[in-house]
Amino acid sequence: MNVRDSEATEATLKAAGHTLAANENEADLIIVNSCSVRGKAEDKAIGKLGLLCATKRDRPNRIIGLMGCMAQRLGSDIFKKIPRLDFSVGTRRCGAIPFMVARVMAGETNITEISSPDEIPDVPDAHSEHGFSAFVTILLGCNRRCAYCIVPDVRGPEFSRPAREVLAEVTALAHQGVKEVTLLGQSVMNYGLMQQVWTPNDPQSPHGFKEPFSRLLEAVSSIPGILRVRFTSGHPSGCTDELVKAVSLLPNVCHHLHLPVQSGSDAILSAMRRGYTRAAYLDAIRRLRAVMPDFALTTDVIVGFPGETVQDFEETRSLMNAADFDNAFIFKYSPRPGTPAAAMKDDVPETEKMRRNQLLLADQDTRGEAANQRLMGSVQEVLVEGASLRNAARWSGRSPGNKIVVFDPVPDLTPGTLAKIRINRVAPQTLYGEVVQTNG
Ligand code: 5AD
Ligand code: SF4
Repeated sequence: MNVRDSEATEATLKAAGHTLAANENEADLIIVNSCSVRGKAEDKAIGKLGLLCATKRDRPNRIIGLMGCMAQRLGSDIFKKIPRLDFSVGTRRCGAIPFMVARVMAGETNITEISSPDEIPDVPDAHSEHGFSAFVTILLGCNRRCAYCIVPDVRGPEFSRPAREVLAEVTALAHQGVKEVTLLGQSVMNYGLMQQVWTPNDPQSPHGFKEPFSRLLEAVSSIPGILRVRFTSGHPSGCTDELVKAVSLLPNVCHHLHLPVQSGSDAILSAMRRGYTRAAYLDAIRRLRAVMPDFALTTDVIVGFPGETVQDFEETRSLMNAADFDNAFIFKYSPRPGTPAAAMKDDVPETEKMRRNQLLLADQDTRGEAANQRLMGSVQEVLVEGASLRNAARWSGRSPGNKIVVFDPVPDLTPGTLAKIRINRVAPQTLYGEVVQTNG
């Protein structure tokens, strides 16, 4: 979400006449986009802002700004921590950044724009230059209140962008050569559940889908030029029969989902207020894989949530094995101010959080390698990106499961097309193979 907000901001600033500096040192305007999900991320942003503002001693005209979740969380209190910061812009006000910069250029400083939770956000639809893939925000904020999470406070309640706006944005991207879009939201399958997103005259779904997110998937995937559609992040409650059907029926929707599980223990899931049990989570993924055996799953896990015993942790380990995740992001619990969990005792010692973190990472490495081994000899459909970053003589692209695939180019292969690659070597993070068919 932050990557998309940064990219949109780059585009709106360019439209306002600014140009991209070659590097940070040369920049006259620097904006730090901040994350509040864990304390460490905020500490890093504060540290960076301190260093940047110190450079104003030699470069008094340099403008330093802050955007994102920490800007929203702290409001004007940020100026107590970073007095020389020029401006700070909350999560639903990215569109205001060019005006804030203009005000600072006219002599103002220490200015803020913070959104109120009930306002209708103005979502920038601009994209800066890009390759073949683009992020498209469809759902802002979150209506869940997971006990540990600050996102509902800093990104506000759920707001779904009208379907017409989303489709217009994807159509414009397709005209600019984008082949793959990733639809973004916190619980992305909740799209359209809280408000009307289709106007009465919008065409009905050809497959008869009634749930707004499935209708949107169908409409986006039928836009000419769009070869692939992804969406993230999911919640098991969104894995309805209709969603499973939509993903399996629509040929260009990738068989991959980032479905954060957070814990495998029912006691911890309940304390976290996740709204599902271990069995319900496993059932959701079983239903996806029953119709799509190649379905790739990635997840997020928190270790050391208040009250997490060794037994609870072992249940997370066993769930991760049962779910056979392709990749997992493991986080040590970090209390966030104002969240329900912040009132609970943070009783798992740091060293124990570290131990659990490392164990899950090691398990995941083994599992990820085994999953890649199983792909040996398989043929993967890859969106060809062009020369690989590491070795320009070889090309790379991504599989539907979002794995990097490296191969030797062949004469009629064009970047931005789908090609079939037979996998003949695997490494923990990368697949290697040879082109067996091109679509270019
Ligand atoms: N502490 C640690 N990890 C957290 N996450 C969210 N809040 C916290 C927290 N307070 C993790 C969750 C989420 C991911 C984006 O960050 O795993 O899915
Ligand atoms: Fe945070 Fe839970 Fe919402 Fe995800 S679903 S953003 S973890 S409150």
